[in-house]
Amino acid sequence: MGRSSAAILCSLLPLLPFASAISGLITDPNTVSDQTFDYVIVGGGLGGLVVANRLSENPDISVLVIEAGSDNRDDPRVYDPYQYSAAFNTELDWNWPSSQGRYIKGGKTLGGSTSINGLAQTRGQKAQYDSLASFLGGDDRNGTWIWEGMFFGMLKSEGFSSPNDNQKQAGASANPAYHNTSGPLQVTYPDGIYQGPQQKYFQTVVSTNFSVAASPDADDGNANVVAFHPNTINWQDSDHRSSSATAYYSPVSERSNLAILLQHLATKIVFDGSKATGVEFGTSGGERYTVNAGREVIVSAGAIQTPALLQLSGVGDPALLNGLGIDIVANVSGVGKNLQEQTMNSVGWTTVDGFDFDGQGPSDVIAYPDLLGLSSSSNSDIASTIAANIGSYAQDAYDAGAVVSVEAAQAIYQIQQDLMTDKHSGLVEAFFDNGFPNGGLGIDLWQILPFSRGTVQITTADPFTYPTVDPRYFSADVDLQIQTAGLRMARKIFQTAPLRSIVTEENAPGYDTVAEDGNGGSDDDWRKWIVDGFSSVHHPIATCSMMSQDLGGVVGSDLKVYNTENLRIVDASVLPIQFSAHLSATLYGLAENAADM
Ligand SMILES: Cc1cc2nc3c(=O)[nH]c(=O)nc-3n(C[C@H](O)[C@H](O)[C@H](O)COP(=O)(O)OP(=O)(O)OC[C@H]3O[C@@H](n4cnc5c(N)ncnc54)[C@H](O)[C@@H]3O)c2cc1C
Ligand SMILES: *[C@@H]1O[C@H](CO)[C@@H](O)[C@H](O)[C@H]1NC(C)=O
Ligand SMILES: *[C@@H]1O[C@H](CO)[C@@H](O)[C@H](O)[C@H]1NC(C)=O
Ligand SMILES: *[C@@H]1O[C@H](CO)[C@@H](O)[C@H](O)[C@H]1NC(C)=O
Ligand SMILES: *[C@@H]1O[C@H](CO)[C@@H](O)[C@H](O)[C@H]1NC(C)=O
Repeated sequence: MGRSSAAILCSLLPLLPFASAISGLITDPNTVSDQTFDYVIVGGGLGGLVVANRLSENPDISVLVIEAGSDNRDDPRVYDPYQYSAAFNTELDWNWPSSQGRYIKGGKTLGGSTSINGLAQTRGQKAQYDSLASFLGGDDRNGTWIWEGMFFGMLKSEGFSSPNDNQKQAGASANPAYHNTSGPLQVTYPDGIYQGPQQKYFQTVVSTNFSVAASPDADDGNANVVAFHPNTINWQDSDHRSSSATAYYSPVSERSNLAILLQHLATKIVFDGSKATGVEFGTSGGERYTVNAGREVIVSAGAIQTPALLQLSGVGDPALLNGLGIDIVANVSGVGKNLQEQTMNSVGWTTVDGFDFDGQGPSDVIAYPDLLGLSSSSNSDIASTIAANIGSYAQDAYDAGAVVSVEAAQAIYQIQQDLMTDKHSGLVEAFFDNGFPNGGLGIDLWQILPFSRGTVQITTADPFTYPTVDPRYFSADVDLQIQTAGLRMARKIFQTAPLRSIVTEENAPGYDTVAEDGNGGSDDDWRKWIVDGFSSVHHPIATCSMMSQDLGGVVGSDLKVYNTENLRIVDASVLPIQFSAHLSATLYGLAENAADM
């Protein structure tokens, strides 16, 4: 190229659109204050970063993400899977107080909860994905909100690596038909996978003696099985965590049309009438700034902060907002209602002398017993309890302000009942845990599909005050009945050969606390121990549910907030019901589908 043509090129450069774009990681609010981006996304967690990545694939579209936390991708508490829980109760954890003295954890860092979570990668049951359309009066949005569409979205996100010989030896197996190898999220098994007999023994006992089928790969929509599950781990990066930050932001961090403002809380969505035009943000005690959204505001602040931000912005139940002196922008009374959170207790057994786990975590085997699998461990008939009590649970949820009407709750519960009693959804998760509790072998057990419904509500117009989070744990008694059946089953699993041969005695709760009566312990003993000691599972959902308006939905099948314009939600708050799975695989699929819209 000659000197003159180079000079001509140089003179053209300032005209190119990317030259002046604001991009990269930013902490100075003045950089974005009063600027306009096509899309302003609140929350740099799972939903926010998937959507930011996909929208900014088009270089003509500008995207800003506002994230309350910092970028901690280089912090071992975040990247090292073997340090799970090191981030808990630190500046990386929102740690919301909830009712009954329980705390709900959530990542306050780039990547959100995917930067601190347990890395289990599990899909739910086909019928549960199909039920998404049922909550929308049958509107599946051309096949998006049913199994086919969600399976497609989940595949798009997945970069799966099949188990190697060492991992196969330990018991891992996968069917390539259910996996994508070229999506952004790295999914595989731990390099140091446990080679001891314990995980295989658990699978053998559950499938042989408890009517839960063993599956070579549970990612096909048949989730009510016992199987080895992969983790969100990147083997090409020393087995470090693959989070929404490393999978969806790191590879595109050089894009000139994508910016992330860190360490700032979105304090309000700015409206012109019912149209969202921007976002106000700031730091505690500091100045407030505003950034404009040319096209849309997308809220991805998670199931606790998203309803709080809507309420602060005047989108919610007038009965709540009027009392706080907040002007009503849109009457959407379902905001902050329908909260569903699960409850966990862990059964633990001491291992025999000299037992060698022969590997390190994360643990790999999970069982999802359905009604049939659980019935053998229940002293009472779970299906009858549900059928007899839907009406009273609906009335109770309404009286507590947790649903928009008794009729809505009944309709929602009927979909849930159908899944639980007719469609064979897994009713509990039995997570086989190496080294927990008490350093032995354990089963972490939670009721997956609670009938208890709760609320997230702001108590003041100050955005830096946490909202009140009340899941109303065990307010529907069948939740406790199912938790009891699951824990009794967990005890019986350890009592059964060959697992029995590698453990000596139960150390949690222990036969002193829940006496062994020849049938796994009494309901009364279990119930007392459960209520005393349960913890939250950190899976809050449904506080801005994707449902029809008569059911108390907040967003429709296009994820747009009812009675507003240019405002969408993409995070766990839109899931109307829990899945028999951990949440993130489903949410990655949902966010991929959202980005397609
Ligand atoms: C301890 C723990 C263990 C878990 N284990 C697993 C597991 O093993 N497998 C699994 O699949 N799932 C697991 N989960 C669940 C899963 O990680 C979450 O359900 C999922 O990340 C939720 O995605 P989200 O987009 O709704 O929110 P998040 O990923 O949490 O992202 C929300 C983001 O918004 C930011 N934010 C919030 N409010 C504001 C605001 N006003 N302004 C700016 N930013 C804001 C937050 O800081 C956060 O970064 C676990 C979760 C936790 C907490
Ligand atoms: C659904 O598909 C039909 C036919 O292809 C199309 O006309 C319609 O716009 C689609 N609807 C949505 C919501 O995508
Ligand atoms: C796999 O992921 C890539 C990248 O997201 C995507 O283009 C492709 O369609 C996916 N394949 C399948 C089968 O979903
Ligand atoms: C478990 O099932 C096997 C095979 O049917 C049987 O031999 C064994 O007795 C069962 N164990 C218990 C505790 O029921
Ligand atoms: C808000 O909407 C609900 C449901 O549509 C309605 O019953 C209620 O009267 C409305 N409240 C106000 C203050 O408009």
